[in-house]
Amino acid sequence: MLMTDIIAKKRDGGELSGGEIEFFVRGVTDGSIPDYQTAALLMAIVWRGMNRRETLDLTLAMMRSGDTLDLSGISGVKADKHSTGGVGDKTSLALLPMVAAQGVRMAKMSGRGLGHTGGTLDKLESFPGFSSALTHEQFLSQVERVGFAIAGQTADLDPADKKLYALRDVTGTVQSIPLIVSSIMSKKLAAGADVIVLDVKTGSGAFMKTEADARELAREMVETGRLAGRRTVACITDMDQPLGNAVGNALEVREAIALLKGEYGGELRELCLTLGSCILTEAGAAENAAAARAMLERGIADGTALEKFAEFVEAQGGDRRAVFDTSLLPDAPVKLEALSEESGYVQRIDAEGVGLVSMHLGGGRATAESGIDLAVGVVLHKKRGDAVAAGESLATIHARDAASAESAAALLRKAYAIGEGKPGDTPFVKAIIRAED
Ligand code: URA
Repeated sequence: MLMTDIIAKKRDGGELSGGEIEFFVRGVTDGSIPDYQTAALLMAIVWRGMNRRETLDLTLAMMRSGDTLDLSGISGVKADKHSTGGVGDKTSLALLPMVAAQGVRMAKMSGRGLGHTGGTLDKLESFPGFSSALTHEQFLSQVERVGFAIAGQTADLDPADKKLYALRDVTGTVQSIPLIVSSIMSKKLAAGADVIVLDVKTGSGAFMKTEADARELAREMVETGRLAGRRTVACITDMDQPLGNAVGNALEVREAIALLKGEYGGELRELCLTLGSCILTEAGAAENAAAARAMLERGIADGTALEKFAEFVEAQGGDRRAVFDTSLLPDAPVKLEALSEESGYVQRIDAEGVGLVSMHLGGGRATAESGIDLAVGVVLHKKRGDAVAAGESLATIHARDAASAESAAALLRKAYAIGEGKPGDTPFVKAIIRAED
């Protein structure tokens, strides 16, 4: 088999066979296919696309490129969750204990990533002593014992995706539905859960800017999951403004804890209840979405979800006292109110703009080697549709020093569009996509 023939076939709009896809993925993984040929095929896929059968074959070949986790020794149905990401997304921190407190185990591999804030693992490192470096055995035993675990993705899980994603990042080939589906789903399938719930974001701060694109991505991921034998559901949710109020590592942990304590009632809670209901119903732990929601709400009201979170933090070496006393979490020395210069209603908040404020303060990572400041970030006091008067605070900036706080406040003001008239409400959860049969 020749890689040049495979590239030419896809370039001309042909359908690749399972054998050709397997040959490609194996060659990428063992290094026998040079990057220029891989990049050429990726670009041909961007232009010509792939049908469902090709996408499934690509996903399965990538999944098989490294280790796969066998969760069958753990009792009950095991679930996993994935988000396509966005600014202020701390959902996993609250969702996993909420679900685990209802008896459905969750096994999550997470990344650090580059971006406006750290990834879930960075956020969790706000707890003194917390470690995400679990061996497979420790991971499995914690899922059984505590009900959930969040570990760093090991280098041996889906090595094909690591190579392909690094090349896609520098060759303009990230934006392709079959390539995104295979990248996300191969990692989820390798991680072994029976139930996979996907949070597909749409809006200005999301990977998928339009709802139509988000729906297509969601549909293809759900179908690929189903064809691979996993119960898969996707929720399409709003990322036209940051999720919740906090953007920044320790600040996001505080917000997730507030939710678990029943002290937070915004869209983050709605998101956790929606995703959690999907998991509980797919896992067979609740008869329907209403019953699942009631279970999850009860877990917040009676403190069991919060206690489950503390148990998890302690199991991974963190200081559980910080769950109940958040003054033990990192705290920035400078706090500055970013005051509005205008009166009116918040029409839009540019999520990426707010993300840049966090990055500017040192809360994100520009390269894989950069350090990250866990204490800094922003807490928004005004969200879309809120009335604001000139001189009122839009947000509190949490900074290392006064100079970075001042420049962050100027950047933050630019992220807000304030105008006359209250903007119409847009639904936060736009759709729930289930398998076609
Ligand atoms: N996230 C991934 O893991 N892969 C993609 O291709 C896009 C987003």
